[in-house]
Amino acid sequence: MNTNLAVPREFTDEEKEALYKAIYLRRDVREHFLHTPIPEPVLRRVLDAAHHAGSVGFMQPWTFIIIRSSEIKAQVKGLFDQANQEAAQVFEGERHDLYSRLKLEGILESPVNICVTCDPTRNGPHVLGRHTVPQTDVYSTCCAIQNLWLAARVEGIGVGWVSILDYTALRRLLDVPEHVIPVAYLCMGYVDEFLPQPQLEKVGWLPRASLDDAIFYERWGKENAD
Ligand SMILES: Cc1cc2nc3c(=O)[nH]c(=O)nc-3n(C[C@H](O)[C@H](O)[C@H](O)COP(=O)(O)O)c2cc1C
Repeated sequence: MNTNLAVPREFTDEEKEALYKAIYLRRDVREHFLHTPIPEPVLRRVLDAAHHAGSVGFMQPWTFIIIRSSEIKAQVKGLFDQANQEAAQVFEGERHDLYSRLKLEGILESPVNICVTCDPTRNGPHVLGRHTVPQTDVYSTCCAIQNLWLAARVEGIGVGWVSILDYTALRRLLDVPEHVIPVAYLCMGYVDEFLPQPQLEKVGWLPRASLDDAIFYERWGKENAD
């Protein structure tokens, strides 16, 4: 990390625009991966952005397992195929057909896969701030993943999150210790295009919800501020 960064109170308009642009143009990417390898310094920058996420009690519970081996990827793809077949069964009729046509991972096509884990024991049994909500260690790991996703986007690198896996089997496959939680399996690589909208929105799976419907005032259910 560049530790010589100045600490401005506010960002310039151009800087603000760049941040919002990264947020709005971030996409979950499962296809259009190029074979171009991700140079080590670029991958390092992206991981360092993840590593600077907020975390409960500053515990920084994450570990990034970088996977390039085609053999391991093939085994993970096997786990996906199995889980995806089972997942498809919960949908019926047209919904099932649409689900079956969706591309929901890019494990083999992307040059780098990353398994992001969370170690609930990191820095001892008592974590400042985790007392009442033990899951805050996993939440912290998700904050790191979002940083990674955004940093990758500004580098032109697509990231796809694959949750359709038996994570217990994944843990075994990657020799992750019993007490460590695999939180995410990410497929990463340069892409030739980023879709302007989520793929699931494009194919009519779900629309983007209205922001107003996601806001209440003072109490659950109160839809206006006055
Ligand atoms: C926790 C989490 C798990 C996800 N798992 C999958 C997955 O298994 N397969 C997939 O294709 N997309 C997965 N996604 C991506 C979502 O489908 C995607 O974020 C959503 O449709 C919105 O699209 P966008 O990320 O391009 O804005 C996951 C996203 C999150 C945050």
